[in-house]
Amino acid sequence: MVKKLVQSFAAFVGVKYTIAVNSGTSALEVPLRCLNNERGFLLVKVMVTGGAGFIGSHIVDSLVNEGYEVVIVDNLNTGARQNINPKARFYEVNICSPELARVFESEGPQIVCHQAAQTIISRSVADPLFDANVNILGSINLISNCLRYGVKKIIYASSGGAVYGEPKHLPANEKHPVDPLSQYGASKHTVEHYLHLYWLQYGLEYVSLRYSNIYGPRQNPAGEAGVIAIFTSQMLCGEQPTIFGKGDKTRDYTYVSDIARANVLAIRAGKTGIYNLGTGVETSDRQIFDMVAQNLGYKGDPNFAQVRKGEIYRICLDSSKAKAELGWQPLTSVKDGIAQTVAFFQSNR
Ligand SMILES: NC(=O)c1ccc[n+]([C@@H]2O[C@H](COP(=O)([O-])OP(=O)(O)OC[C@H]3O[C@@H](n4cnc5c(N)ncnc54)[C@H](O)[C@@H]3O)[C@@H](O)[C@H]2O)c1
Repeated sequence: MVKKLVQSFAAFVGVKYTIAVNSGTSALEVPLRCLNNERGFLLVKVMVTGGAGFIGSHIVDSLVNEGYEVVIVDNLNTGARQNINPKARFYEVNICSPELARVFESEGPQIVCHQAAQTIISRSVADPLFDANVNILGSINLISNCLRYGVKKIIYASSGGAVYGEPKHLPANEKHPVDPLSQYGASKHTVEHYLHLYWLQYGLEYVSLRYSNIYGPRQNPAGEAGVIAIFTSQMLCGEQPTIFGKGDKTRDYTYVSDIARANVLAIRAGKTGIYNLGTGVETSDRQIFDMVAQNLGYKGDPNFAQVRKGEIYRICLDSSKAKAELGWQPLTSVKDGIAQTVAFFQSNR
């Protein structure tokens, strides 16, 4: 009977409905989505921290396309104004600052999608205080504001590439022991503990998404992690790309639009917990170099340098939990994703 009522309400307002079964108890849930204001329905507002950055800006675009109202909080440390979706409201605010509370107070988001972070592994090794300040204290400031201002759910960008350390088996699933090799991995994982505690103590729902290596349009080639963006930009400038190690280090590359879709699914799912997001496929640095070179017609060889501190040798993630519980799986192959990324950088030189 209740199910029927929800179905007809959902059909009336034009949304799909889901039934979420959590910890053995069944809960009915109309997916959180913007219901058209003009039709007089509830408007769901999502705050995206780091929404001017690479992944955050794609999440913002997806949410706007899905009809959510979106508010961005970003201090433009590595993000860029040109990434900001004009349909979102933008606040140039540091997540570590007391000013953050004012954004919560005036906007009152129901959902927070937390992407803002210090993301550079070598910086976390060289300056762990800065890393911990942004990634741990900034996140605690954010979570505390979520609690204070009645946020329903937090979606958090964790890192499957950094929290597991050197994997004992591949692909690594969520039960793989956590053993980070860098301060960045430790700081990203620490926030998962805080999210869990706020859920246990106050019932604040969360989904922690452990991303693999994400790539795609808008990735900053000035960073250190976006090897596809870095190689593409170097080859386009006629520079010789550097591979750290012998070229046999492997990563699990997931295209950014797949990750944006996972965030939308995580908002809608009646779930709390940790989910890996990856393809389960290992691709080596040398293979990436060759695929980018092939797309660009680059004929040179790579330069080889010593592996950097804090970097693991191999990783790929088992995402079957995300498939079963969030209905997520990657749709873009590395070959297609690289072609689209290279095309983006060619037309935005
Ligand atoms: N790119 C990947 O492969 C990858 C893999 C695993 C996890 N992640 C996580 O995904 C998230 C997004 O990463 P990205 O690759 O898009 O990086 P990015 O640098 O493009 O985005 C981070 C954004 O956060 C903003 N920011 C940084 N410090 C801030 C602060 N103190 N206050 C407000 N805003 C701040 C930056 O200006 C930027 O716009 C991060 O949390 C990162 O740890 C990324």
